[in-house]
Amino acid sequence: MKGLLTLCLGWLALAVASRSPRQQRAVELALEDFHSRSQVRWVYKEQAVEEVTEEDHPAGYFVRLRLSLSQTQCPNQPGRRQDCAIKPKGRKQSCLVCVKFNFSSPAQVLDKRVHCRPEQSKAGKDVELKVEAACREMQEAGKEPNFVGHYLPGQLAFSKGLPP
Ligand SMILES: *[C@@H]1O[C@H](CO)[C@@H](O)[C@H](O)[C@H]1NC(C)=O
Repeated sequence: MKGLLTLCLGWLALAVASRSPRQQRAVELALEDFHSRSQVRWVYKEQAVEEVTEEDHPAGYFVRLRLSLSQTQCPNQPGRRQDCAIKPKGRKQSCLVCVKFNFSSPAQVLDKRVHCRPEQSKAGKDVELKVEAACREMQEAGKEPNFVGHYLPGQLAFSKGLPP
């Protein structure tokens, strides 16, 4: 039993260690956001992080991921989020998370979307699609060159084609 626990803790440490600091920060921000909602009556614990996308652009560092949460036995009250045992047959939530950090001062969050819905139901899927679209916009915004003096190929061709 003790060996199994050590093994589990080992896996947990490995999972957390293989995560970039910004991925980890995105997970923390999502947990804070989720628990700050008044309709969330129980503390939930992170179960898995999947579908991770990370991109860095001069306009910001973008992280997108899916976070699975499991219900614990602790009521959702400030200061009661430690040492909470997972509730057997408790509820599960699936959260779509995307965060954009300032590239030059990464502690600063420029934009953030967190949307959680019950894992085994269709409820909230329509909202999730909208959040997905907002995440894509957030991701694309960082890719546009935003420095002055950038020449678009089309503009150059056009000015060349002008009569002298
Ligand atoms: C990002 O951080 C830099 C350095 O602290 C700051 O000058 C800049 O205004 C920030 N960018 C945004 C979009 O807030």
